[in-house]
Amino acid sequence: MKRIIILLAVSFFIFTSSSASGKLPHNENMAQIATDATNIMRTKPYLQNPFNEGITVFWLTNVPVHSWVEYGTDPQKLDNRAETWIDGQSVCNNKQHKVRLKNLKPDIKYYYRVCSQEITLYEAYKKEFGPTACSEVYSFSVPGSKTTDFTAIIMNDLHKSKKTVSRLAGLIKNINYDMVIFNGDCIDDPRDETSVIDFLSYMNEQVHAESVPVYYIRGNHEIRNAYSIRLRDLIDYVGGNTTYGAFNWGDSRFVLLDCGEDKPDSTAAYYGLNSFESFRQEQAGFLKKELSGDAFKKASARILIHHIPLYGMPSEEYLPCKEMWHPLLKKAPFNLSINGHTHSFAFHPKGECENNFPVVIGGGPSMETATVMILKKKKNRLTLSVLDSEGKELLKKEL
Ligand SMILES: [Fe+2]
Ligand SMILES: [Fe+2]
Repeated sequence: MKRIIILLAVSFFIFTSSSASGKLPHNENMAQIATDATNIMRTKPYLQNPFNEGITVFWLTNVPVHSWVEYGTDPQKLDNRAETWIDGQSVCNNKQHKVRLKNLKPDIKYYYRVCSQEITLYEAYKKEFGPTACSEVYSFSVPGSKTTDFTAIIMNDLHKSKKTVSRLAGLIKNINYDMVIFNGDCIDDPRDETSVIDFLSYMNEQVHAESVPVYYIRGNHEIRNAYSIRLRDLIDYVGGNTTYGAFNWGDSRFVLLDCGEDKPDSTAAYYGLNSFESFRQEQAGFLKKELSGDAFKKASARILIHHIPLYGMPSEEYLPCKEMWHPLLKKAPFNLSINGHTHSFAFHPKGECENNFPVVIGGGPSMETATVMILKKKKNRLTLSVLDSEGKELLKKEL
């Protein structure tokens, strides 16, 4: 009898404390007390992959919702609506939202906002909804095949340092940039969703990812820790299902590769859970195809980006990517290769260390070593400027 009374008391306490805070778990069989609309959005939207007349909008909510994007060319009249459907079904009752806007006209300013309506009950024959929250209205534009100009910002090896990303973002605040590339080791050793979202949102807000598309390249540190495999839930990788790929920004071609880990797959700390040898081989196949493809050949500028450098590295370093990719790259007509990983800024002119193109390596996470790169193309003129954390120009090159 005493045990029953205790159980009843515990159950009553759990029920009253959770319903008072409005935090009953959402599931298909239990009605949820609606969340305050101001508490629905977890992050601002962030933009990715502005190509093929489309752009991907991503955001997160605190509660399961039904989400959509409203957009148009008039900020007062967001006439178009897009949401994600899979096999005839709306992707909803979830907290991570990825919507692709399609059939956009190039070089035109679009305005958009993201909206999410809470789903408080999702049953087979009954659904209940809570309030709707919408973000502010933001703008973006996508390049077309005739676009010749761009300004890209590249940062690398931030290693979750908010101080560094905020300092570097401060240096570029007066520049009108079109895209941002985070070249690996930024979301260092992703442990769990909370810490990942915290830093990802911070980076995104610093570079205005709600209006400027962002590319996240995987470094060796994004491959470590419990949440590493789930980063792909938050990122729309250029290659779709793969972390490597290529894209056009107008008449310029960007090729992004993923070097994987920086030690052999057999390293004890990987516990047999890595297979980067075959992954690098797979990319050799991709690279071969890419270099002989029309998009690459016709491009007026070609930029190669990957985290671990192939060239200018100490001879004792483990460099399996060089072994596999150098035979393809030794004659490839890239204007520039951009790398990170060493935490030490370096520039290797074409031909200095078997490299068929200039190689620039960005710095590290500390204020003493951090760098930000500004890669600019105006018609046929491609220029690179590298700044240290004080804004001092370490390099200015025409490529
Ligand atoms: Fe690093
Ligand atoms: Fe690294």
